[in-house]
Amino acid sequence: DETVLVGEFASQIGVPATQVIMSLMKMGIMANINQHIKYETAEKIAFEFDKLVEPLQKEEEKEDVVIKDDLEEDLLPRPPIVTVMGHVDHGKTSLLDAIRNTKVTAGEAGGITQHIGAYEVYVNNKKVVFLDTPGHEAFTQMRMRGAQVTDIAILVVAADDGIKPQTIEAISHAKAAGVPIIVAINKIDKEAANIERVRQELSDNGLLVEEWGGDIIDVPISAKKNQNIDKLLEMILLVAEMEELKANPNRPAVGTVVESNLDKGRGPVATVIVSNGTLKVGDPVIAGTAYGKIRALINDKGKRVKKAPPSTPVEILGLDEVPMAGDRFIVMQSDKAAKAIVEKRRIKSRDERLEASSKITLEDVFDKM
Ligand code: GTP
Ligand code: MG
Repeated sequence: DETVLVGEFASQIGVPATQVIMSLMKMGIMANINQHIKYETAEKIAFEFDKLVEPLQKEEEKEDVVIKDDLEEDLLPRPPIVTVMGHVDHGKTSLLDAIRNTKVTAGEAGGITQHIGAYEVYVNNKKVVFLDTPGHEAFTQMRMRGAQVTDIAILVVAADDGIKPQTIEAISHAKAAGVPIIVAINKIDKEAANIERVRQELSDNGLLVEEWGGDIIDVPISAKKNQNIDKLLEMILLVAEMEELKANPNRPAVGTVVESNLDKGRGPVATVIVSNGTLKVGDPVIAGTAYGKIRALINDKGKRVKKAPPSTPVEILGLDEVPMAGDRFIVMQSDKAAKAIVEKRRIKSRDERLEASSKITLEDVFDKM
């Protein structure tokens, strides 16, 4: 398990060490500034202070592949990637169902979204890519990653329930990612719905809506009764237009893995979002410590496609192991180059694992008590 020094962590999030130590005590962990705490614990504390911790690995360390910048003249408009975030059961999947005119929620185990679903939708003949994220606390890690690929965050808040812990978490992820937030105040069909209370709670959390003189767009909706969905989509297009999103479709693809699994028949399967370039069947690709030649690309409708331009969510087949959600995928010049990078990464991750397992901290002991 990765650990972080209490003192270092406190200065990283800009909170006095004494306060961090107090919060740790409340969690039943006794530690001084010179002791290590688990990264997981640090994350929880950071949320308490409305802060985000730095990713485990520093960005520079990951830069074992140099990705060339694009020339301005090679850039073309690309569809926005919109992530739907919010507290569990506030209606994220129902909203996407309403947008897509389908019923995904009905097919989910216990109605809880277990993974990130990615969908392409046409709104007024313009393509918009939607990412559904799970609202369950255990999926915090994945949601953090969801915020990194996104251009716009839709914050779903149930009007009968108001702002909840995961709503606040979603707000801080979106803020950390620096993306515009549109609030969808959902379930306005319910008797207990209180739109003004939601607006109050939003302002308590640093989001002042336009009606209250701020610059946050909110749209009261009912995903269930299909109310105001058009208005919300209009706002999404408006915000997307202001973002002037661009990419170069004529270069090797790069992007992010949003979900992955080992399929019995098909082997490692990863859903990726192409952030730049065009991904093609036959491309040599790396993702985390996985590599392979793209054997097949499958779009969000389950159809095989030959290529995936910028902002497309696609399933890729042909990797030799299952990459992790949040891993970056990069198309390399050759099979050989892909293999060489991944071999280096595998040695490094093996070394890191060995190092981590030989380190036992006081907190490991405390946590087991
Ligand atoms: P997780 O994926 O588990 O985080 O939940 P979610 O945010 O995707 O919520 P989901 O769409 O599964 O909806 C949760 C429950 O709220 C379901 O029973 C929906 O039918 C209900 N619901 C969603 N939107 C509305 C709405 O506008 N009005 C009413 N009355 N119920 C709604
Ligand atoms: Mg859901």
